[in-house]
Formats: sequence, C-alpha cells, structure tokens
Amino acid sequence: MSTEPLRIAVLASHGGSNMQAIMDRIADGQLNARIVLVISNNSKSGAIERVRQAGLPWQHLSSRTHADPAALDEAICQALESVHAELVVLAGYMKKIGPQTLEAFKGRILNIHPALLPRHGGPGMYGIHPHESVLAESDAESGATVHVIDGNYDQGKIVAQRRVPVMPGDTPQTLQQRVLAIEHGIYADVIGEIVAGKLTLPLVD
Ligand code: GRF
Repeated sequence: MSTEPLRIAVLASHGGSNMQAIMDRIADGQLNARIVLVISNNSKSGAIERVRQAGLPWQHLSSRTHADPAALDEAICQALESVHAELVVLAGYMKKIGPQTLEAFKGRILNIHPALLPRHGGPGMYGIHPHESVLAESDAESGATVHVIDGNYDQGKIVAQRRVPVMPGDTPQTLQQRVLAIEHGIYADVIGEIVAGKLTLPLVD
C-alpha cells in the first residue's frame, strides 16, 4: 500500500454532493487521497461552488470552451494528465467521456449510477428518470452502482452495488433521496478499497 495520497480528479456537472462526500472523507483523515483537479462543464454548478469554498483547483471545460468534441476530449485528457491523476471520478457528470480520455485512462474512470445496473441504465436514465423507471416497473428494491466507464452508457464493469428497499408510497423524489444517501457512502468506500490495495488500478476484466 502506497503512503502517497491517491491522486483523484473529479468531473461533476450539478450539485456535487457525491464529490462533497469524498472531500469530507478525505478531510476526516479516513481516506488517503487528494483531489488534484475538478473539471466541470458547468462553471455555475453547485459542484464548482463547493470546490471554490474548499479552495481546490478546478477548470471549466465544455462545448463553450471547446466547440469541437475532439478538441474538448483532448483538453480534458491533457488536464487530467497534467495533474497526474491516478483515478478519475465522475460524480453527476452529464457528458460522455471522449475516446482519447477513455484510452489514456482505461480502467481508471469510475462512475456512480443511482440504480442497480444493468437495470434502469443507458441513454436517458439520468436525474429523476431511473427512479421513475424503478417505480414504473414495481421493483422491490433499488440502489447505487459504482462502475468503470468504458464508452457505453452505464455498461462498464460493475465494481460495487448497494441496495435500498422501495417503500410503499415512494415517489421518484423520495426514492432518489434514499438512493443518494447511500451513494455518498459507497463511492468513498470504493475509493477506500483502491487506496487500501483491495482493488487494483487499472480496473480491468
Ligand atoms: C447522483 O444521483 C448520481 O448517481 C448521478 O447524478 C447524481 C448527482 O448528484 N449520476 P450530485 O451532483 O453528486 O449531488
């Protein structure tokens, strides 16, 4: 096990509560890791507000800064390489990762999905939609999945899952809150397993 903190880069688009949970675990001294860069496609996001308050380095990279998708992919890849990121954590990141970044960080990019993949994943299954889908299908349980990003929406190798019951009277919103609460634990736990050497990077089959 290395004593150097694991170098993590985070990509986030929205509220950033998953990123905050990781930041808190680091600040508590429970996770030997360091967030070396946060990239957002949305400079006005809650995630960037949290990052500003914490004084972490961040960059706004999006179709506004780079209209050409290949140029954006290259910029993201270079930014991640320039900080020597060992692990890339997608935390509510709403954009697809480009092929250059995927290749350069193969097996080192994790995502969290608010459902038990392979159920309720794929294109369109973001925000409230997976929770609507769970209720529409009358599933008895839902949960969170941490998985490797491989270029197809929500299809990479599953690293960890945690379950919650669906309760009578649940709305998509109540279910979303219950799932989000366990997301905050499971993501930091997976990173902890990487730090502890129980999971080895790159995470390949
Ligand atoms: C989470 O439910 C995550 O699973 C999904 O988007 C949401 C992001 O929440 N990909 P936050 O921005 O971390 O608060």
